[in-house]
Amino acid sequence: MSEMDAIREAEERGRTEIWPLWRRAYAQGDPLPAFTPSPGRPAHRFDETDPLPEEYKSLLLKMLRHEGERAGNKSFLGFMATCLDIAESLFPTREARLLKAEYLAEELKHAIMFHRLAVGLDRDFALRDVPYAHYAFHLPRESWADDAFFHFFVDLNGAFHARDWRESSYVPLAKMAATVERDEVGHSEMGYLFLTEICQDAGGRALARRLLDKWYPAALDMFGRSDSTNAPKFIAWGLKSVGNAEIRQAYKGYVDAKLVALGLEPPDERLNRRFL
Ligand SMILES: [Fe+2]
Repeated sequence: MSEMDAIREAEERGRTEIWPLWRRAYAQGDPLPAFTPSPGRPAHRFDETDPLPEEYKSLLLKMLRHEGERAGNKSFLGFMATCLDIAESLFPTREARLLKAEYLAEELKHAIMFHRLAVGLDRDFALRDVPYAHYAFHLPRESWADDAFFHFFVDLNGAFHARDWRESSYVPLAKMAATVERDEVGHSEMGYLFLTEICQDAGGRALARRLLDKWYPAALDMFGRSDSTNAPKFIAWGLKSVGNAEIRQAYKGYVDAKLVALGLEPPDERLNRRFL
């Protein structure tokens, strides 16, 4: 019996014990690699009420701009609405649409958490509309498989960043890191569950294989340039533990193992890349 059949069966019994999907990912311990801050970095620590050095604050705001999920961010709410449209038009079953609704509920929870953080940091920022800049958010999602890859890869990017925030020098961010990380792993697992269903047959696997050439490079590109001039500053201020190349490699190791387990060969990591 496939996992989606199990969900369908559980649904009929009126009990969906499958959500949250992070539970099974953490059942065998921490699924994500730990990032060790370089020993020499100064131990900065700033809480919400502390005055923030100018450079620190501008780096923190730059980092949070990437995290779109914020109640005051109109583009985020618009993006959430498109998610429901996609579920309605592309998802094959009610069970899959229900999982997507669970995902949305959690992203809205994150939007409240990041809103609180933003208000504590900079009220103008809390109200700012920040359209999704990275091209991964604008790749066409024309099939259930496209959307499955979006969640598998893009939510996982969020999970890897949140993993690194556990060591963050900004206390409000460190406090919410574990919850965001866990939820994002669950969202990525939702995408993976859909991919598992899609790859049940040869046609689905062929489609997934084709779409990998679109989504895999975008996923790796989401970590920015390996020679980013900002990365050393983020590390020095304790806002990040490692550089873009290192977190990207850890991410690649994780996703490659998951793809191979589905019978999918990961593409060449330099294929179709825009930011190496
Ligand atoms: Fe997510």
